[in-house]
Amino acid sequence: MSFPVTRLRRLRRTDALRALVRETSLSLDDVVMPLFACPGEGVVRPVEGLPGIAQRSVDEVVREGAELARAGVRAVLLFGIPEEKDGEGSEAWNEDGIVQRALRALRAEVPGLTLLTDVCLCEYTDHGHCGVLDGDTVANDETLDLLARTAVSHVEGGAEAVCPSDMMDGRVGAIRAVLPETPIVSYAVKYASAFYGPFREVAESAPSFGDRRGYQMDPANIREALRECALDLEEGADVLMVKPALPYLDVIRSVRERFDCPVWAYQVSGEYAMVRAAAEAGHLDERAAALEALTAIKRAGAGTIVTYWAKDLAGWL
Ligand code: PBG
Repeated sequence: MSFPVTRLRRLRRTDALRALVRETSLSLDDVVMPLFACPGEGVVRPVEGLPGIAQRSVDEVVREGAELARAGVRAVLLFGIPEEKDGEGSEAWNEDGIVQRALRALRAEVPGLTLLTDVCLCEYTDHGHCGVLDGDTVANDETLDLLARTAVSHVEGGAEAVCPSDMMDGRVGAIRAVLPETPIVSYAVKYASAFYGPFREVAESAPSFGDRRGYQMDPANIREALRECALDLEEGADVLMVKPALPYLDVIRSVRERFDCPVWAYQVSGEYAMVRAAAEAGHLDERAAALEALTAIKRAGAGTIVTYWAKDLAGWL
């Protein structure tokens, strides 16, 4: 049946009607807020490229965590900026390292908040790559044990799920072997993306030479993304994550259709920074653009989104 009998505008007339037929909705249950822990006390150091986001000392991480929990955000993803970096990234698995201390403080003082950690070495190595080097390349197998140790130290600190983001082959299996009970949220499909720029500023993790194309995925590939997912599930991943989100909606959709596990997406720093910059210049409405992007990522198939707007979302919903 077509026009004049069918008139799709009939259901668009009022807010209430639109809400009744809406196919996708956003909820605070489905967002995770990234937090960046740094040394010191009383430190809240804003980052130019990522307005509204800051490096925070452990006491300030706790203060922010408590605010997030009060606002209704249920989960945070912790990153660390260590005091010292070295070739191996050994601060990553130090039991008194920055993330481990932040975890213990949050666990004690904000018990309601679910704590996830990013497992990677790039914030901890003096060369900024995600694993140990062999000449100019990142040595895959030598890195696995270090990632597993890092994940164990996070769980001992109080992490409830670990999120490996390094893109070494076999890392999920290496972590699963030592942590049979811990949920693993695998950054299974992580592209070598230009949209991570502002993150590397806040995490102080830009590679000192070269780039990450030798381990992160080529943005041109989607079949390879599905192979990454299948392997990570076989190795024991519980959740598959696609990253970045908005430029990769087709990938999110394909992963959602192919696999029955939870699928998450990471709306990365560049996606956030672009909208913030355009909004600050007066060219668009931040709230409307953010809600539209988040809705699109959910519509594509992501159940949960890691997003720098998680806190704002609590006020918007
Ligand atoms: C660590 C890591 C990165 C991001 C999350 N975990 C950076 C990278 O791979 O260079 C990016 C997150 C963002 O841009 O918001 N490897």
